[in-house]
Amino acid sequence: MRRGSRRRRSAEADRPASTGLSGRAATRLWGVAGTALLWVTAVALTSGQGAARAELPREVLAESVFKNVTTLRGITVDEFMGTMGVFSAALGFSCEDCHTGGSNNWALYAQDVSPRKQMARRMVTMMAEINKQYFGGRQVVTCFSCHRGANRPKVTPSLTLLYGTPPPEELDVLLPPAPPGTPSAAQILDKYVQAVGGQRATGLTSFVAKGTYSGYGPEGFPRPVEIYAKAPNQKAIVVRDPASGDNVTVFDGWTGWLSAPFKPIDVMEFHGAELDSARAEAELTFPASVKQALTNPRSSADFINDRSVLAVQGNKGNALVTMYFDEQTGLLTRLVRSTPSVVGRLPVQTDYSDYRDVAGVKLPFKWTTTWLDGRSNFELSEVQPNVAIDAGRFAKPGPPKPY
Ligand code: HEC
Ligand code: HEC
Repeated sequence: MRRGSRRRRSAEADRPASTGLSGRAATRLWGVAGTALLWVTAVALTSGQGAARAELPREVLAESVFKNVTTLRGITVDEFMGTMGVFSAALGFSCEDCHTGGSNNWALYAQDVSPRKQMARRMVTMMAEINKQYFGGRQVVTCFSCHRGANRPKVTPSLTLLYGTPPPEELDVLLPPAPPGTPSAAQILDKYVQAVGGQRATGLTSFVAKGTYSGYGPEGFPRPVEIYAKAPNQKAIVVRDPASGDNVTVFDGWTGWLSAPFKPIDVMEFHGAELDSARAEAELTFPASVKQALTNPRSSADFINDRSVLAVQGNKGNALVTMYFDEQTGLLTRLVRSTPSVVGRLPVQTDYSDYRDVAGVKLPFKWTTTWLDGRSNFELSEVQPNVAIDAGRFAKPGPPKPY
């Protein structure tokens, strides 16, 4: 049973594109030299305004880093990779369905061999055109709106679906309106801080954790992981892999990077909303800062796996962050961070469990993070609270190499 699911959908549909990226990226485009005319007409015009032009340095733009970008121009490399996640998720494709070659040979990704890659470009243009022509530039139609996980969208209403048992409703990215009697965001966050240890939470200023990590599909084998965290917002996650090189995620308090093997970019820096999202994740590691982490917090109620949860949604810059707290225990069970992109929102969801006591503060020892093209499982074996951490741990990581 889900409350308010219909209203939730329409709330998402009403979101103006000015809060999404189609407008922001578009305005940037005007100042970018060499922008393909196709993209300008298809997307830039959807914004209808010319403010805040080209605030990004050239070297972070997708078309400067990749060889053959003709349509998704004027966006950062990290957002560009996010759009590839949307493509894959929306159509139920793997990367190889549009690109030839495995994840070791990125040069092949620049080639236009698959007709699907060409089709995807036309679809980006079509999608932008529909939103502009018929929805005043709001990003209401995305790849997922039509495709819903299939390469060929369904044409005829399904009678089986109509008269069968409806599939479980998914929580959407925008919260449903709060049912009457829902506690305020401040009350929910207070209860959470109490649940994890109250005043003692402020005493947790750093920790070093060790455990096991496993990824998704071929990345599924378990590997050692180390986590370094320092309040208010520095964090490094190091997944050890001597054979291919470590997978390292760092937020140093200002800037964030991902260094990982088998990626088109060895060390990818986060920008814009992706950076905001990384900042939120680092800050929320420490329960004591939860009340200051987000702006414009609002509350609602919902269900996760049939358990009642109280939700707090707020903004961190251009990222939208939702925390779901178990109504009974008050503990954080799910964190969803989502960032806008030119082809739809990019959600990242973390589900926490196995809370244990660390220096009088309850921390999750298990969590699973899912995003559009991957999943990670973490399981901690030990957490050392309040230890000195070498500043170098939060420095920009080097490219991954075997050792
Ligand atoms: C539905 C088809 C589709 C899927 C699935 C897809 N891509 Fe792409 N990819 C494209 C298109 C189209 C472009 C070119 C975009 C443009 O010209 O603006 C592209 C370009 C790229 C490029 C830039 C190559 C270069 O040097 O020009 C990389 C890297 C890339 N994709 C990686 C990925 C990865 C990784 C995945 C899987 C997570 C993926 N793609 C999934 C359609 C797809
Ligand atoms: C308005 C609905 C709609 C939207 C939005 C849409 N598509 Fe499509 N797409 C279709 C339809 C319909 C087809 C099938 C066309 C056919 O059968 O000839 C299709 C086909 C495709 C194909 C070819 C699949 C195959 O296996 O042959 C690709 C690739 C594709 N779309 C990518 C995308 C991407 C990427 C986006 C988002 C940028 C997107 N589509 C948005 C309706 C849509």
